[in-house]
Amino acid sequence: MSILLVAKNRNLAPFKEALLNADKNLDVEIWPNVEKPERVQLAVAWNQPKNVFDSYPNLKVISSLGAGADHLIEDSTIPDHIIFTKIYDPSMVTQMNDYVYASVLSILMKLENYRNSEHWDPAPKYSREDLTIGIMGLGNIGKETATYLSNQGFKVFGLSNSKKEIPEIETYTYNDLDPFLKQVNILVNLLPLTKETEGILDLALFKKLKNPSFIINVARGNHLIDEDLIYALDTNIIESAYLDVFNEEPLPSSHPFWSRDTLFITPHIAAISDPDNVASALIDNYKRLLSGMELQNVVDRSKGY
Ligand code: GLV
Repeated sequence: MSILLVAKNRNLAPFKEALLNADKNLDVEIWPNVEKPERVQLAVAWNQPKNVFDSYPNLKVISSLGAGADHLIEDSTIPDHIIFTKIYDPSMVTQMNDYVYASVLSILMKLENYRNSEHWDPAPKYSREDLTIGIMGLGNIGKETATYLSNQGFKVFGLSNSKKEIPEIETYTYNDLDPFLKQVNILVNLLPLTKETEGILDLALFKKLKNPSFIINVARGNHLIDEDLIYALDTNIIESAYLDVFNEEPLPSSHPFWSRDTLFITPHIAAISDPDNVASALIDNYKRLLSGMELQNVVDRSKGY
């Protein structure tokens, strides 16, 4: 039996190496040079091409290489009987906390004002009491980020599909989107990408936030309506935005985002899966699969996450 690694435009060699370091007896193949497709039972995929899984008669499970599984859900060429799983990697939680906190501190201290500035022009900082934070998406990562920011002395609100109880966090469900938004200055998007959440970050939503308003998008580019954000930045509805994810990645050089100095762009680096942690999560599920035990971190295909 073997594990197959599939990705377009991503070097999978470190993941194969980590799998073999953890267990040298594993049989691991990297697409597209697959010698024995009939041996593959578990595949691991990131932005896979359509129809790539057509020729694996014994494939049972496909794991995402990361925390999000939207690339699997969206791929209608994958048969319904295949189980999807995702990776829970604790190092991604730490990285995400760091990215969001760094962005929040940049906003709080108005570091944005001094970027490339030749002028000695001190501006009053915000205080923690001035800025509330709203986390959209309280999954494995979002709930931890909410708690982390609360522990740094911020008032934090949380929003999720089903009601979550998290100490110190005031939580809302999608039905209460408006009361949530109106209390939030800094909106952090950590939602899964589904039909319901696609395009959720639009002008109507931006207008409902508390002033001054800021956006941090670390989930998926398709959550955001790009032209609405540009309009909101240009008309001061939003003061500034921190974006790590984009509709098209790499963000094309012709994209107007590059020309806005109220936008901070990073190349999808907020939380990167660590090969050793991914390998141990995969091997755990692979053993469970081979021995007929319940899998960990299974994606609910009907919910989309
Ligand atoms: C990264 O974007 C992930 O889903 O892990």
